[in-house]
Amino acid sequence: GGPVLSDISTLAVGELRTVAWRGKPVWLMRRSDEMVHALQQPNPALADPLSKRSEQPASCVNATRSERPELLVAVGICTHLGCSPVLHLDDGALNAELHAPGGFLCPCHGSRFDLAGRVVKNVPAPTNLEIPDYRFTTATTVQIG
Ligand code: FES
Repeated sequence: GGPVLSDISTLAVGELRTVAWRGKPVWLMRRSDEMVHALQQPNPALADPLSKRSEQPASCVNATRSERPELLVAVGICTHLGCSPVLHLDDGALNAELHAPGGFLCPCHGSRFDLAGRVVKNVPAPTNLEIPDYRFTTATTVQIG
């Protein structure tokens, strides 16, 4: 139940890793420059673009919802009924909605999230994905919790 360490030096661009923390799946994903740029543009499709209603550390209340723009750290549990959203990098309809080269789709009832875990409007999930407390203990080591 304590903190979990993950070495991100081996995490490739576009790669998603899942680690277990307090019985929850926590994602670590290295985003590309193109992905980060897309997240930083306003997108009217998002329900809560400034993350006012969602749960995240104060240091992650920004467009990428992260300490470092390139690294997503998020709890991989849909905020609707707890299914596991799936990363899609090649879904034309999803990418068009998000104006981005990728996003997450929940297989249970179709909620969709951008690569910062921000939910789109008019889907069952009420809030953005949760961002856990985390910090960098070295340049390439993330401690979750
Ligand atoms: Fe994800 Fe319902 S659990 S949309």
